[in-house]
Amino acid sequence: MSLDGRELILGVTGSIAAYKAVYLLRELTRLGASVTVCLSEHAREFVGPLTFRTLSGRAVLSNLFDPQSADAVEHVALAERAHAVIVAPATANVLAKAAHGIADDFLTTLLLAARAPVLMVPAMDGGMWEHAAVTANVATLRRRGVTVLEPETGALASGLSGKGRFPDIDEIVEALRRLLVPARDLAGERLLVTAGPTREPIDPVRYISNRSSGKMGYGLATAALRRGAEVTLVSGPTALTPPAGAVFVPVQTAEEMREAVLHHLDRATIVVKAAAVADYRARHASSTKIKGKRDLTLELTPNADILAEVAARRPNAFVVGFAAETDDVAANARAKLERKGIDLLVANDVSQQGIGFEAEDNEVLLLDRWGGVRPLPRMPKPNVADAILSHVLSLRTAAATRKTPA
Ligand code: PMT
Repeated sequence: MSLDGRELILGVTGSIAAYKAVYLLRELTRLGASVTVCLSEHAREFVGPLTFRTLSGRAVLSNLFDPQSADAVEHVALAERAHAVIVAPATANVLAKAAHGIADDFLTTLLLAARAPVLMVPAMDGGMWEHAAVTANVATLRRRGVTVLEPETGALASGLSGKGRFPDIDEIVEALRRLLVPARDLAGERLLVTAGPTREPIDPVRYISNRSSGKMGYGLATAALRRGAEVTLVSGPTALTPPAGAVFVPVQTAEEMREAVLHHLDRATIVVKAAAVADYRARHASSTKIKGKRDLTLELTPNADILAEVAARRPNAFVVGFAAETDDVAANARAKLERKGIDLLVANDVSQQGIGFEAEDNEVLLLDRWGGVRPLPRMPKPNVADAILSHVLSLRTAAATRKTPA
């Protein structure tokens, strides 16, 4: 989901993790949000307002009685405009104040005035996080509907190890997305998503594979889950953590992916094949390590085309394929769509820098079997994922209308 047009407030409080709020701000603006930053007095000791002002392109607010403010009750005006308030990092102190309704600076006053959803991202020493007072304050806030993320476990600024670390930026953004999209327009849908590369063994230590990181497919699985779908994610080897809530089926080879896909196909209402399946495998993989220092001829044999097989089985599902192209993208993609007999093809030009394999962003062309073509501009992959899923829903609705007798 794009954050375009979203008005956000980012409250930053006085923790050593305050510098991580800078990265969070950069990601939020990259996704299209307009962000106003409120710094607590103590946060200013850790990171100066100039950094936040430069990255947000807006004045940074701290002082409840700022004589330069055009709006004497700016905290109320801001709170009314905001689609969400994020407090990151949130210290034990701000959690306590928010839980008890104390309003003694700009941020805590704004938290009382806010009607938008609030996301707290605690970061503190492990002992503090486990203190009974903090536990009680977190419980109070959660009861009131505030989303309080769990800190991560690991090395802490105190030199100790424990639970209290600022979570990954991606996790915070995902939690924000869940807050911003109450619509569960995929509720009742069962998505079967493939992601990542496959690995075709040559011998016990070598394989044929490709550069797929899995980001596009995992983005689709995550977006579908957030929008209420049940998701089965069949994935080749990647460095990514499977999204919580998905049925995760790890595979290595194209043949394993084929078996997993066919096994789960009957239940699916939407199939999305974002995986980069190896087209070939070694005809005879060696069971022992092949010795080096001599010429080697590998005989390759084609893998089964899983997508074409899925479409040929005519499942009750809407079938989406991807096409990794390097030239004449639209024409090649249209031919691929027809050859494979699928409903929608998402084509990306993988020869372009900054999109396609491994990249954070993608820029795609959506071609459907009814002749429609829709280009999507370059966007972060999670946003591309949301746009693809929305397009699937509208195509399916249009197709059902076409079938309805007049
Ligand atoms: O994983 P990332 O780093 O985020 O990169 C994303 C991506 C570039 C991998 C993704 O956007 C993408 O384009 N995926 C499809 C890559 C691919 O294999 O394209 P293709 O044109 O070779 O295959 C066309 C379609 O047939 C794909 O849906 C593929 O999953 C499927 N296929 C291909 C071969 C095969 N034997 N079986 C298949 O099912």
